Amino acid sequence: MTLQKPMLSKTEVRKLAEDFERFKFEPLPQRLWQYVLERYDIDLRSKYADFPVSPLIGKASGQLSMEPHQVLKDAEAGLGFCVLKTLIAQDAQGNQSMRAWAIPITRMKVERIKGQDETEGWTVTWVGRGWHKSFEAYLRFFDEALSIGAEYGMLIVPSIKAHLPSHPDEEWRVGEYDFTVGELLKVWRKQNPNLPMPIEFDFSPTLAGSEFARRQERILKWLVNVPKLIKEAAKKATEMEASKVICVGIKVFNAMFDDTFQIEMLRTLLEEAAKGKGADFIVYANRLFDPNREYEGVKGIAYGGPDLSARNLRVLSQLSKLHERGELANWLPLSGTGNICNGKIAFEYILCGCSTLQIHTFFQLPISCYAKRTGSKIQRALHQLLFEPENGLIAWLLWMRQGTNQLANKPLRVEPLTKID
Ligand SMILES: Cc1cc2nc3c(=O)[nH]c(=O)nc-3n(C[C@H](O)[C@H](O)[C@H](O)COP(=O)(O)O)c2cc1C
Repeated sequence: MTLQKPMLSKTEVRKLAEDFERFKFEPLPQRLWQYVLERYDIDLRSKYADFPVSPLIGKASGQLSMEPHQVLKDAEAGLGFCVLKTLIAQDAQGNQSMRAWAIPITRMKVERIKGQDETEGWTVTWVGRGWHKSFEAYLRFFDEALSIGAEYGMLIVPSIKAHLPSHPDEEWRVGEYDFTVGELLKVWRKQNPNLPMPIEFDFSPTLAGSEFARRQERILKWLVNVPKLIKEAAKKATEMEASKVICVGIKVFNAMFDDTFQIEMLRTLLEEAAKGKGADFIVYANRLFDPNREYEGVKGIAYGGPDLSARNLRVLSQLSKLHERGELANWLPLSGTGNICNGKIAFEYILCGCSTLQIHTFFQLPISCYAKRTGSKIQRALHQLLFEPENGLIAWLLWMRQGTNQLANKPLRVEPLTKID
């Protein structure tokens, strides 16, 4: 389906234009979702897995969620959730099989990138990977982030990467899962004793380019086993039923194979979940990987931009069609990520069934790229994403609600459009 431009009434366009202009210079309303609900009758509240978030937009794991002051800015701007930088798991003795992913960042560059269809966009190029400070420092950071989240009503989600066997006979290093999940749970349960802890497992794009991920059956085995290991770890740590203490999300990566394999990865996750053993939600999908691109002497670089959203949306819309035709074993809550840099792309992820949206790059652009003249980059990005009169998310959601366009009969599996009494 090709979406060109939302066709709105004059009144709607005027209201959006007024807000867009006004909030260029004023702070965004404190309860942003409430403002949007009252003014436009559009409900931006949603669920990340089973956790209520308002609004449905959050920060994706990465360089922008490494420090408490960054988390505080997210909360102040009114994001619904914040996924913390990926922690590289370790066992009780401090062994880390994925140590290669725990390197400190050297340099990071935000640069222009052109998609295959000539669309201009942005990508962040860098050579760092996961969390490089100590394990204890991450636990302290998680604790602080949770306090900030609690104060502002913003969900905080830790992210991990743990051992993945690279050949068929290699044993899983269960100790990494047990120790890391157990320690994170101690921190979470101190502040949220009665709530399961959401967690993302990061299958990163650099993993896609590594020797590890050359074989499809190996990747599928990882997708089957990782949720089980995290749940078993949670059960061991708390002596409680896993579903009461943990909610596992798998952040799917763009493997170096075709779209059919991406669907197979998703099918595997859905089938395992249908058997009651798998993930509880899916994050789709991490960046692309170019084995030939070089940066700072490193060959093989992850990248984003228009090709990332094009690929993700192509795969997600196929998945969504399979679901509509009843050809999937199950459906899981989806969180979309990848080049969400305007209302149209955000809307397309929602149409494909994503109930939340995660952003990294669009929160990191040069300040001149945002129309808003005051506030943090998070606020400026939200302003643009939501209120742009011609292409903002509110404009697209208003257009969808008219019911007179080609989307009128499209079933949506997300809640943000439901009116709240
Ligand atoms: C500099 C940088 C660091 C990242 N680090 C992580 C990470 O540690 N864990 C993770 O799951 N994703 C990481 N990501 C991926 C982002 O969370 C996000 O899913 C991806 O960049 C797509 O969103 P975007 O196009 O809005 O950037 C990183 C991305 C960037 C650009």
